[in-house]
Amino acid sequence: MSTAEKIVRINAGVSKCLLVALAETTIATLKSQNYHWNVTGPMFGSLHALFQEIYEDHFEAQDLLAERLRAQGEHIDGRYSEFLKVSAIHECPGKIPALKMLSNLADDQRMLSDSLKKLAKVADEIGDVVTSDMAIQRAGIHNKFEWMLRAHLQN
Ligand SMILES: [Fe+2]
Repeated sequence: MSTAEKIVRINAGVSKCLLVALAETTIATLKSQNYHWNVTGPMFGSLHALFQEIYEDHFEAQDLLAERLRAQGEHIDGRYSEFLKVSAIHECPGKIPALKMLSNLADDQRMLSDSLKKLAKVADEIGDVVTSDMAIQRAGIHNKFEWMLRAHLQN
């Protein structure tokens, strides 16, 4: 394999990881908004607010990731059905207990931080420090949300 072919293959790796991160962020956005609408129980106030904080953050991040993907020269098929095909995060009905919402979203935040750390690693390999820096910052935000969500599940 020539150096040029290797670079093309590695670039494709960055684009693929960016697409996965975009898809997972988009699905996590609607999922946390769905829970924001439907949450019930004694923790209603704090969970309603926390889920809103998450979907507002994720909504902005969708644009950040999508435009980074466009900067790589990639077209984006921004259909929810397409995002579901590449996302490790899945949809979930909104009518579930609050504790299950918390554990689902905490697991999703872990998956997102894992996907973004992978993106940072792949971007680092080709010296794409802009993508790598963005991915590390996003991974840190997801780590924080995971901690906030899991803190509600502890006694
Ligand atoms: Fe609202």
